[in-house]
Amino acid sequence: MVIFGATGDLTKRKLYPALYYLARDGYLPEGFAIVGVGRQELSDEDFRSQIIDDLNEFVGDSADKELVDWFRERTLYTGGDFDKDKELFDDIGSRLEKACDEFSIPRNFFFYLAVPPSLFATVTTLICRHGLAEESNGEWRRVIFEKPFGRDLASAKELNSHILRILNERQIFRIDHYLGKETVQNILVFRFGNSIFEPIWNRNYVDHVQITVAEDLGVEQRAGYYDNAGALRDMVPNHIFQLITLTAMEPPASFEADAVRDEQEKVLQAVKTYSPEEVLSNSVRGQYGAGTIAGEPVPAYRDEEDVPENSETETYAALKLSIDNWRWAGVPFYVRTGKRMERKHTSVMIQFKKAPFVLFRNTPVEKLTTNRIVLHIQPDEGISLHFGAKVPGPVVRMGGVDMDFDYAEHFGETVSTGYERLLYDCMIGDATLFQRADMVESSWRIVSPVLDVWEAIPARGFPNYESGSWGPEEADELLAKDGRSWKNDIE
Ligand code: BG6
Repeated sequence: MVIFGATGDLTKRKLYPALYYLARDGYLPEGFAIVGVGRQELSDEDFRSQIIDDLNEFVGDSADKELVDWFRERTLYTGGDFDKDKELFDDIGSRLEKACDEFSIPRNFFFYLAVPPSLFATVTTLICRHGLAEESNGEWRRVIFEKPFGRDLASAKELNSHILRILNERQIFRIDHYLGKETVQNILVFRFGNSIFEPIWNRNYVDHVQITVAEDLGVEQRAGYYDNAGALRDMVPNHIFQLITLTAMEPPASFEADAVRDEQEKVLQAVKTYSPEEVLSNSVRGQYGAGTIAGEPVPAYRDEEDVPENSETETYAALKLSIDNWRWAGVPFYVRTGKRMERKHTSVMIQFKKAPFVLFRNTPVEKLTTNRIVLHIQPDEGISLHFGAKVPGPVVRMGGVDMDFDYAEHFGETVSTGYERLLYDCMIGDATLFQRADMVESSWRIVSPVLDVWEAIPARGFPNYESGSWGPEEADELLAKDGRSWKNDIE
């Protein structure tokens, strides 16, 4: 495995710990080594010490010394400017040869591009130019691209066409770390591994769907990237669209990568693309002001490190989307994401229609508890079913109750970074959980009109939500005009 961006945050927080957990659970072959590539000039020994310290920090006290030493031995490093240093890629090639000989590794290589997207095209070109991506004698070569994949439809298309000229689609793995989450993968198992939910999973029974990806964290030290991206680009065409497609797709013919991705792509194609007028009535943006989270005061976005004081960047986005197909026509999908919201919470809520008729005195139909299924993605992972039950007593009164399945309670806690499955799948060549070129482009096609309108019409009244709240009032109005409201009290 070659990691570009080896001294960066992603490598130390996620990639090395993920490799550690894979090795611990017996999913890494004995013939395995890592070549780290970074801008800094470091010796193998310096890099090893650094990465091993990080591993101990992020895996914690439980890090097994023998396993850590196993990684130490198998880690090599080379440094230089990715786009200027002519010798760098020759050096990567010789490091790979050295590692293959030393640890008897077959010449199967995968390259992880944990670098800014502006370098994706250059690094891929250089990998190919130096022959490192050439597959021969049954050996494979693969490249993993971190998000964001482009910043709009035009740039995503350009990048796709560039890398597809020099690599084959089956060598390309566009990562979306949401697909590494157990609970996200479980959406498919829940829907297609059971027979009782699918018959009601459509417009005849479902009133609407709400997807919330709320974070309590602010922009942290990432303003350089985030202030140019904003909440919509950062979260919607990737993570939120994964949740939508898995929730809304038809059963695939098989679990082969392309069968699953064909169905996801069909959902994206059915999502209505808005005209500028429709964007205005179906989208809301926000930016956080100062406030309090978990009892602690937090600053406004504009007062965060490296954020311009007049920044117009949105830290919150909400959309009402329509999936214009046979299954979902007329069922709105409301999605929202924001930073510095009341608490970290990601869920998909399927709200079912009300019972058609009031049978019980004292319970007018508006008060009848309606049914919903909530897929809790994080931090609590599980599934709950909400329904009405009789409150004990001489008169018939209804109350809402929940049937809960809690992952940790049932299966026990498993520590993971969410990258394990994705790295493993790349090694075995299974691209099911990775985005295909057409999916990336369809996602940008849907959000592009929103980005265009937001760029053309500057936001008014930013900051428009307090840190620690559930977002701007306009987002409540987006649902209120349809006679609905966000469900904020899902635990
Ligand atoms: C990343 C975004 O892709 O996802 C971040 O760039 C965001 O801004 C993060 O904080 C959220 O991931 P998770 O796994 O914490 O929900």
